[in-house]
Amino acid sequence: MQQRMPGPVAVIGATGNQGGQVAAALLRAGMPVRAVTRFPDSAASAALRRAGAEVAEADMAHVTALEQAFAGAAGVFSVQNFWELHRDGEVELGLNVLEAARRSGAPHLVYSSGIGCTEATPVRAMDGKAQLEAALKTAGLPYTILRPALFMDDVLGASLPFRPWISRRMAHHRKVVGVLFLAVLRSAFHRRRPIPLVAMEDVGRTALWAFSHPEASAGQAWDLVGSRLTASEVLRDWQAATGRRPWPLPIGPLLRAVHPEMAELVAWLARHDAPAAAAPPIPLATFSEWLARLSPAPSG
Ligand SMILES: NC(=O)c1ccc[n+]([C@@H]2O[C@H](COP(=O)([O-])OP(=O)(O)OC[C@H]3O[C@@H](n4cnc5c(N)ncnc54)[C@H](OP(=O)(O)O)[C@@H]3O)[C@@H](O)[C@H]2O)c1
Repeated sequence: MQQRMPGPVAVIGATGNQGGQVAAALLRAGMPVRAVTRFPDSAASAALRRAGAEVAEADMAHVTALEQAFAGAAGVFSVQNFWELHRDGEVELGLNVLEAARRSGAPHLVYSSGIGCTEATPVRAMDGKAQLEAALKTAGLPYTILRPALFMDDVLGASLPFRPWISRRMAHHRKVVGVLFLAVLRSAFHRRRPIPLVAMEDVGRTALWAFSHPEASAGQAWDLVGSRLTASEVLRDWQAATGRRPWPLPIGPLLRAVHPEMAELVAWLARHDAPAAAAPPIPLATFSEWLARLSPAPSG
């Protein structure tokens, strides 16, 4: 392990999916965590405190509040939720994190982007991340970019890619969201087209590696891909592991009508290969390994 600054890593989104995995990985490794949240009194913030994290209140809309939350930090993890913020909000809040990290003198920023978000695209869910990657590269701050592929965890409905009021309602119906995700893979991707997938936990493991090895990880951008499987292979492995038979829902036209931003993203991913980027320096879980860890096996 290389020399890293003392002080906690300030984790944006620690109460959410990716930031939650980053906070958990850092805490497991004995590294101090400062969880940054808008809601320090929430159940998720209380759970983070119990796990050993410090909790700091800040809204990404306010640079000064972020700067205070980052004071004395050994690093900052940055993620924004496009589905809540849309493109302009994602860029605005991502730039705020970058500016606050710069002003606070944080020595390392790890940004979670998305696979293929290396350059401008007509896809709103990708374009803001490409803009943030470009800004990061010229900010004069040591950085590492993680580009996660589709999350394996989405087969369980882990991400809720909806407006906040819909997400709140869907939070109790993750199984349904997982079924819809599998239906989207089946109906949108060509039978023989490999789909890049990664376990959400590996965002945490890779960020931990980056923060623990600041010299080796500075200036690096890694595609996070644990498996590349066709939709049929995903469905086959899912059925073998869980005994659940995915529904053959013809969801394509419905998706275009009810969720155009998601339809746009899926259509792009189904047709364009992400430009090849470097793999991270640690092995990532394959889909079979991830499925084997589902314990107890989801019922249904
Ligand atoms: N699903 C996939 O397959 C996939 C793959 C690659 C990339 N992505 C990208 O992943 C992103 C979503 O990440 P996620 O799933 O980790 O999101 P998430 O679980 O919804 O978490 C969002 C986090 O952001 C925090 N947050 C939201 N607004 C904030 C604000 N104004 N100030 C401070 N904190 C704020 C929330 O904390 P509080 O509510 O506690 O403040 C929450 O912890 C999207 O941009 C998506 O494009 C998804």
